[in-house]
Amino acid sequence: MTDSITITDNRTGSSLEIPITNGGVAASEWQKLLPGIWFYDPGFVSTAACESAITYLDGEKGILRYRGYPIEELAERSTYLEVAYLLLHGELPTESEYEAWRKEITYHTFIHENVRKRFLEGFHYDAHPMGMFVSAVAALSTFYADAKDIFDPASRHKQIIRLIAKMPTLAAAAHRFSVGMPFVYPDNSLGFTDNFLSMMWKVAEPRFDANPVLARALDILFILHADHEQNCSTTAMRVVGSSHADPYSAAAAACAALYGPRHGGANEAVIRMLTQIGSVDEVPAFVKAVKEGHGRLQGFGHRVYKSYDPRAKIIKRTADQVFTVTGKNPLLDIALKLEEIALSDEYFTSRKLYPNVDFYSGLIYQAMGFPLEMFPVLFAIPRVSGWLAHWQELLDEEAKIARPRQLYIGKEQRSYVAMDQRGR
Ligand code: CMC
Repeated sequence: MTDSITITDNRTGSSLEIPITNGGVAASEWQKLLPGIWFYDPGFVSTAACESAITYLDGEKGILRYRGYPIEELAERSTYLEVAYLLLHGELPTESEYEAWRKEITYHTFIHENVRKRFLEGFHYDAHPMGMFVSAVAALSTFYADAKDIFDPASRHKQIIRLIAKMPTLAAAAHRFSVGMPFVYPDNSLGFTDNFLSMMWKVAEPRFDANPVLARALDILFILHADHEQNCSTTAMRVVGSSHADPYSAAAAACAALYGPRHGGANEAVIRMLTQIGSVDEVPAFVKAVKEGHGRLQGFGHRVYKSYDPRAKIIKRTADQVFTVTGKNPLLDIALKLEEIALSDEYFTSRKLYPNVDFYSGLIYQAMGFPLEMFPVLFAIPRVSGWLAHWQELLDEEAKIARPRQLYIGKEQRSYVAMDQRGR
């Protein structure tokens, strides 16, 4: 057996053999035989847009690994900050490397006063925190002119540190503004996640010490959300990054992609759905309606995972730990019933629809006191490390500018018609 495919152009009878490399066939080879014939693949369902050494995902087997390390082991034994280092550097840090990394990130948690005072506080009083967040990330590019030096290693490193460090500060600032609370400055004596919780919840106490169970649960959620190979927002980061835009502008595009309900907004949609269902007794009727084509089961299904989402399993366990501190989220019983019914229903099993990462994460966020509008922001905080790892990889590979083709289905050439002669 040869690891290759042979394509034949039936118009001419010419054939070409193309090797299968790393599970793919090169479109550049295809072009040699069929110039001007494009793959038609809306939504990139069958297209690999790059080679990547960051995250491995096997959707059939439910496997997710960052740089070769299983997500289960990282969630059990690592921290978000260490995982961010791993994604960006390819290896786990030694003790001294980690200490230097932690110090650098901690040093850059503050944001320029004008970002908060003039920019964030200029939003309308009821602005959605994710809308504020997307804009604030883009605005950072105007504060760091050196960000344009994307091929200068020192500058690139600095922007990576700044982005990872400032995401929690921007996120908390957007929240505090939206609820009319004063901004809380970073407390650099705290760890990454504890500091974020302090900026979110501190009122008048001199120091806010988060409940360690909740801080660890959030850190696990940050680990689980740190990367997910070529998802919609990472693709946005890569596409914009391929034009050599600065990393803040590219990350803002990625944040915008994450905002949508099919991506980072799904956990918010799950809570709205569970609230709408209202009680366990209403679950069968809701599932029936979904099967009849009225809406979707939010938090179910995935483009890639077709057996189970390994992150959902870890999150379900984490939810139990969180509820021992916060009390059970009253929506949990509805969620469990929904999962039970859906997993035994042929409609869902035949379409390989299982709970995804968002099915339980919203329940945890809600139990911890985060408003629904903050859910996509919570997703963006850790995902920036994944976005940056892909951005860095793309620049190192000297990737071409992203520029897909189209199959034109519009009008043939026609002549301009004067307005007074355009009777319809
Ligand atoms: N509820 C009911 N039916 C569904 C669902 C769902 N959640 N998801 C897919 N289907 C059905 C769909 O109607 C279609 O059925 P049919 O073949 O009869 O037309 C079939 O399953 C295939 O669906 P698809 O839309 O072609 O699948 P996709 O790979 O394009 O979409 C998805 C993936 C995640 C967008 C989709 O499953 C969905 O909308 N899920 C709900 C939203 C959600 O939970 N999103 C979070 C994704 S995980 C976090 C992240 O990575 O951002």
